[in-house]
Amino acid sequence: MTRGAPTAPRCEPIRPLLLRPAAKVALFAACLLPLAWLFYRAATSALGPNPAEALIRGSGDWVLRMLCLTLAVTPLRQLGGWPALARFRRMLGLFTFFYLVLHFLAYAWLDMGLDAHAIANDIPKRPFALVGFTALVLMLPLAATSFNRAIKALGATRWQALHRMVYAIALLGMLHFFWMRSAKHNFAEVELYAAIVALLLGWRVAKAWITRRSAALPPT
Ligand code: HEM
Repeated sequence: MTRGAPTAPRCEPIRPLLLRPAAKVALFAACLLPLAWLFYRAATSALGPNPAEALIRGSGDWVLRMLCLTLAVTPLRQLGGWPALARFRRMLGLFTFFYLVLHFLAYAWLDMGLDAHAIANDIPKRPFALVGFTALVLMLPLAATSFNRAIKALGATRWQALHRMVYAIALLGMLHFFWMRSAKHNFAEVELYAAIVALLLGWRVAKAWITRRSAALPPT
């Protein structure tokens, strides 16, 4: 390469793929696979001795995985030099909400028989469920404002401030998982997810700190 020639962007081989309209369709289909897998296992009686528990837990696992994928978009976009990844963040966020609603409905139906009174009594009695429910309530305004018209109506700054709530939701989700597993003294997966969430949130904190620090430095 000639000295001084412009360097090729790092994202070159992946970027055209990420920009294809088919990439969004592929991601949409991929995000539906866990649902299809749960349905398939339910239809073939392959959910084990306690199908209700398997469905509630299986959907809960996917809430957490989708949340991690959504939080990973910005670090990957910036570290990998793939700005086009931003196109997929909204879809991942909405699928997180989708699996959360599914998880809640599985609990409400299979554990509580869709009895609103029993649900209203049960949630405050079980701290882990209360924490999960708080995360669900906090996610409602995020899902409701995930569309271009909402961004325009709120203005970019207020919209961004509102959507920072996803960090609180991630922490509540982790607390919910920790609390649930602590009853069984089973922490292996909790530790794994805690490490991933800590890395993803810690990266943002470090990035914000570096940006603020360099903005405060006097110009050289
Ligand atoms: C962001 C919010 C939430 C996340 C990330 C989440 C995630 C999870 C995860 C990972 C599990 C355990 C799965 C396993 O053991 O493999 C779980 C279990 C469970 N969650 Fe959630 N959840 C959330 C919200 C909720 C809500 C709103 C409710 C209902 C009020 C709820 C009720 C339950 C129940 C009943 C279990 C099973 C407990 C048991 O088997 O003893 N979760 N959740």
